[in-house]
Parts: sequence; structure tokens; C-alpha cells
Amino acid sequence: MNVAVFDTHKFDRVALEQANAGKHQLRFLEARLSEHTAELARGCDVACCFANDHGDAKTLQILKSVGVRLIALRSAGFNHVDIKSAATLGLTVVRVPEYSPYSVAEHAVALLMCLNRKIHKAYNRIHELNFSLDGLMGFDVHGKTVGIVGTGRIGQVFGKIMNGFGCRILAFDKTPDLQWAKKVDAEYVSLEFLLRDSDIISLHIPLSAQTKHIIDSAALAGMKKTAILINTGRGALIETTALTQALKSHSIGGACLDVYEEEEGIFFSDLSGPGIDDDVLARLITFPNVLMTSHQAFFTFEALKNIADTAISSISTFEINGDLSAVKVI
Ligand code: NAI
Repeated sequence: MNVAVFDTHKFDRVALEQANAGKHQLRFLEARLSEHTAELARGCDVACCFANDHGDAKTLQILKSVGVRLIALRSAGFNHVDIKSAATLGLTVVRVPEYSPYSVAEHAVALLMCLNRKIHKAYNRIHELNFSLDGLMGFDVHGKTVGIVGTGRIGQVFGKIMNGFGCRILAFDKTPDLQWAKKVDAEYVSLEFLLRDSDIISLHIPLSAQTKHIIDSAALAGMKKTAILINTGRGALIETTALTQALKSHSIGGACLDVYEEEEGIFFSDLSGPGIDDDVLARLITFPNVLMTSHQAFFTFEALKNIADTAISSISTFEINGDLSAVKVI
């Protein structure tokens, strides 16, 4: 199969080439998928897309017209592809539903511990020979209440780790998993209760019409003034301007963000030369109690291997069967 790999980065090129082992012809493209770049897939059977590729209806139409039959996502989330339009056009869409949930859950914990214990500040200070502890005080995570919004694969691993820290765990999910809850001593509660009672809140739900801006100004107002909000899910789960307001008015303790509403075109790029023209982001990263990474939670050796292996295996199965209904995302 001829595969157009959009938004290729050095790291996934290596993993994909290893997983592919010469089976398919991979056309590595640096461009992100959009209506302006879809033409680059001409002659390819497959468009292999990453988290910030943009598969709206128009883009999918172009992909279809240039010969693409399969969209193989290198991500778990699929909010960036118009699934209904894909179905109408007869395009099969597959994703990587299960890659190391540890990668994301562990990153959420890393962000929390870094912000809480001010490791990022201490690191810089030490290099300037400043060995003072002023301003570096954190809090014990042990004994704190942790609210997990979304207890699927990643949320459950996060819960297990926080259980290990000795935290009280509150959970919110439209489909509670009572067996998991029993194992980690978690209690399912309403979202309002979770937001009100938690010292640490971590978002692990997918982005959808129902979950967009689930954390808006009202939700933020319902949190403790000291609460730490962690988002490794998708940027638009949080209404960024509302978060900025909450940070400005000191009505939230801090935020650990691996994703950002308008990250497309910014994250994964080196903009240290040209700078950014997103004023909301520029303001957000000035808060001393905000720690941001650029969508790197998935970025472990194991996860990249899982992603590449699953994407290539889906493409091979599609080549043999001409259909992948068993793994379609809809
Ligand atoms: P999952 O599908 O295993 O779990 C999602 C959970 O959210 C499910 O338990 C589901 O019932 C719940 N849920 C969905 N809609 C809901 C709603 N409206 N209200 C309440 N609960 C709802 O997904 P997984 O693997 O745990 O991933 C979660 C999200 O993490 C992904 O959708 C993706 O957006 C994000 N992610 C981020 C990565 C990163 O690098 N930052 C990497 C991988 C995933």
C-alpha cells in the first residue's frame, strides 16, 4: 500500500520504518493534513495522520478524490477527524485505541510533582548557583483528594498511581467501572462534587460536543482556591480564557497542561525564532503556577512503538481484507 504519512517527525519516522520493515511504501510528509495539503496524498491508498492533523469534511473529500481509502490515525483521540463525513465518503478510519496508557498517566503525575515541588524552578536555580529554598515549598500529595474526570484506560492508571501515593480518590465517568473503583478505593461522584472536594483534578475524557469546555468559568468557580488542575486530555476540555481569569484572580492553585485549545500549528514546532502570535497562550505561560508541555504525554519509547506497530498492522489488515469494520472508530 502507498501511505502518505502527514505531520512526520523524526521520532515517528524511525518507529514507523521499524514497524513497517518494508511492507508498505511510506511517503513521509512534514506538512500537517488540511484542505491545503490533502493533495499531497495523491496516489496513496492511506493517509496516516497525527493528533494535530485536520480531517474536516472538505479535507476528507480531497483525500477521497486523490485515491485515499483508509485514514490510519497515529493517535487515540479522533476529535480531529469528521467521522460522519468519512463514513458518508466510504473512508475507513482507524485509530490506535490502546497504546501505553502509562505514558500519559505517568506524565500527568510528572507534571503534578514538578509544579507542586517546583522542580523546574529548582533546576534553573541550581545552574545559576542559587541554592536558596525560598519560594520552592510544595505540599504532601499523600492524604490529598484527587478527582479523576474520565476513568478509561489512562484515568485508571492515573488512579492506581495516586492510590499508591495514599490519596483519597473521587471519580467521574459516564460509565463507571466499579471493579476498578474497588481496587483503588475510589468513589464515583457527580462532577460538581468532584470539583468541589478535590485538591488535584485530572482530566482524562475524550473531547466531544458533550465535553468541550467541561471546565468553564462555572466549573472553575466550583473548585477549591488551592486546586491543581491537570489536563493531558485535549485542550478544548478547558475554556482557556476562563482558566486565565481564574489564574489572574488567584481562584485556582495552579494548572499542569500538556494540551491547549489552539495548539494546532504551535505545538510540535520550534517557534523560538519567529515567536508566537497567540496572546492567550502567551499570557497563560507567564503564570508562575502554570506548567506546560507541548502534547508530549504520549512520548515514550513504548508508546511510540505501540502506535507505529498498530498503525502498520491496521494498514496490512486493510490491504488483505479491504475493510476494517472491526476496528473502525465509529
Ligand atoms: P478511554 O476511551 O479509555 O477513556 C475515556 C473515558 O472517558 C471512558 O471511561 C468514557 O466513559 C469517559 N467519557 C467519555 N465521554 C464522557 C462524558 N461525556 N462524560 C463522562 N465521561 C466520559 O480513553 P483513554 O485512552 O483513557 O484516553 C483519554 C483521552 O486522553 C483521549 O481521548 C485523548 O484525548 C487523550 N490522550 C492524550 C494524549 C497526550 O499525549 N496528551 C495521548 C493519548 C490520549
